[in-house]
Amino acid sequence: MQTMNIKLTINTKKYEMAVDVRKSLMDLLRELGYTSVKHGCGVGECGACTVLVDNIPVDSCLYLATWANNRAIRTTEGECRDGKLSSVQEAYVEEGAVQCGFCTPGLIMTTTSFLEKNKGKELSREEIKKGHAGNLCRCTGYQTIINAVETAGKNG
Ligand code: FES
Ligand code: FES
Repeated sequence: MQTMNIKLTINTKKYEMAVDVRKSLMDLLRELGYTSVKHGCGVGECGACTVLVDNIPVDSCLYLATWANNRAIRTTEGECRDGKLSSVQEAYVEEGAVQCGFCTPGLIMTTTSFLEKNKGKELSREEIKKGHAGNLCRCTGYQTIINAVETAGKNG
């Protein structure tokens, strides 16, 4: 097995470790206990594994752990601070945008990055849909998710 030493930050915690060069960031995060990161399709189709790498959403199943060297990773675990949900997490609860919940952590990270990027802008439902096109949900029919993004945009 070929390994590489990497340094990265996950939420607020710093790590330094040797990783198998073939390992995905998704597998590394799950092994380290960040189990909000879901293994859905494993091939970049569903977005269940979405995390932020330097604040950009990526499918962590397609992203090698070694590429995360010297980067900052955010997962939904880190969005909850001092026991308080983030405005995005709160909006998903408030709007009932969660059913089985499998897609939710990935969606929360996509919404978080989308709203950070579009701060202060008035967003149409069409723009919200396009901004979340990489995240599939088989339960909700998406309307409550779009509602949650609108609410988080207003409250954030
Ligand atoms: S598990 Fe990564 S996109 Fe589906
Ligand atoms: S809530 Fe079940 S897949 Fe989205």
